[in-house]
Amino acid sequence: MTNWTAAEIEENVLVQFEKHFGEKPEVLASAPGRVNLIGEHTDYNEGFVFPMAIQHRIWAAGRRRADGRIRLVSLNGMPEQELALENLSRKGAWSDYVAGVVLEAQKAGQPVGGFDAVVYGNVPTGSGLSSSAALEVCTLHLLMGLFGFEIEGKDQPLLCHRAETGFVGVNCGVMDQFISALGRKDHALFLDCRSLDYDNIPVRLGDVVVAITDSKVKRGLVDSEYNARRRECEEGVRILQEAGETQVKALRDATPEMLERHRDKFPEVVYRRCLHVVTEDERVLRSVDLFRRGDLEGFGKLLNESHRSLRDNYEVSCPELDTLVETAWNTPGVLGSRLTGAGFGGCTVTLVRRDALENLVEAQTRVYRDKFGKTPEVFVSQPEQGGEHRRVG
Ligand code: GLA
Repeated sequence: MTNWTAAEIEENVLVQFEKHFGEKPEVLASAPGRVNLIGEHTDYNEGFVFPMAIQHRIWAAGRRRADGRIRLVSLNGMPEQELALENLSRKGAWSDYVAGVVLEAQKAGQPVGGFDAVVYGNVPTGSGLSSSAALEVCTLHLLMGLFGFEIEGKDQPLLCHRAETGFVGVNCGVMDQFISALGRKDHALFLDCRSLDYDNIPVRLGDVVVAITDSKVKRGLVDSEYNARRRECEEGVRILQEAGETQVKALRDATPEMLERHRDKFPEVVYRRCLHVVTEDERVLRSVDLFRRGDLEGFGKLLNESHRSLRDNYEVSCPELDTLVETAWNTPGVLGSRLTGAGFGGCTVTLVRRDALENLVEAQTRVYRDKFGKTPEVFVSQPEQGGEHRRVG
């Protein structure tokens, strides 16, 4: 199904459901992966992010069952799973994301019963495009469609986020679930991760496209390093508070000047981590402003600054990502490029003029192959619609 359109995939998911379960499905749900344009490692510091939903999605067709069992078939070749509603526990399998959302929906007082589902996704896994958030939001939509309840607005991503942090046990921020649930076609999402206020900002790119390059480096270190960064940020907050900046509840409240003033109280590494976060927050605010005014060149420069900060201060890049980004920087027609997502592998995001796209793909492929003997995958995405569901059959 690699090169299929969304409509063809949906059709196939419905057909496969009937093949597997011998009956027609009742509901078709889906939710997108995401690329973060700018605002990296800011969400868990109560700062700002600016992601957009991509065309890669996860789809699920489902039908209720009366016996409280959940049967899950993957069309991506992952093992079939069978769960009992009254006894959901973490299995270390792909079904954990589904089970986590089921449990959270139950806790929220929703009437969830057993069901059969066929699931298919074309969000690459382990590439930093949030396939797990997509599966969670897709599951929530499937449940809403099957069991006739409605969870609105930001309560959707918050429920999915609880499933991921509580049940699955990944200590992530709120960005991925928010964009997967609340993204809108042709818009990027500007989210304040403290107030959780958000704004869907129209994306008017003209002759510019958003290119996403998958380094194919699976993000091996990501969990331990991610948690280490979170601890360093918390330490930064503690240092500032002890220095008398009691208004600082999270790095969101700090400024570069404040960090500079107290620099001598910081271990050098913690200072650099904090400097990334506070400057990245500023870059997001400036980016959204430039974006609104159609200044894509200005926005591109901030993407480049973001990458340098992630590479040198937050230290979440790797040689592969740096090579892809530097190759983009050296390609005429590129407005800006940086790593996107948690880092340590995954993808880069590049703003490039449409007529320079081919050169970008050629250059990234050639340089990357020469250096690492691997072929990166480049694709272009429009901003897509967040999670949705409809009755079928
Ligand atoms: C991962 C997490 C997000 C966010 C990014 C870094 O994608 O799931 O919550 O922290 O890393 O910006």
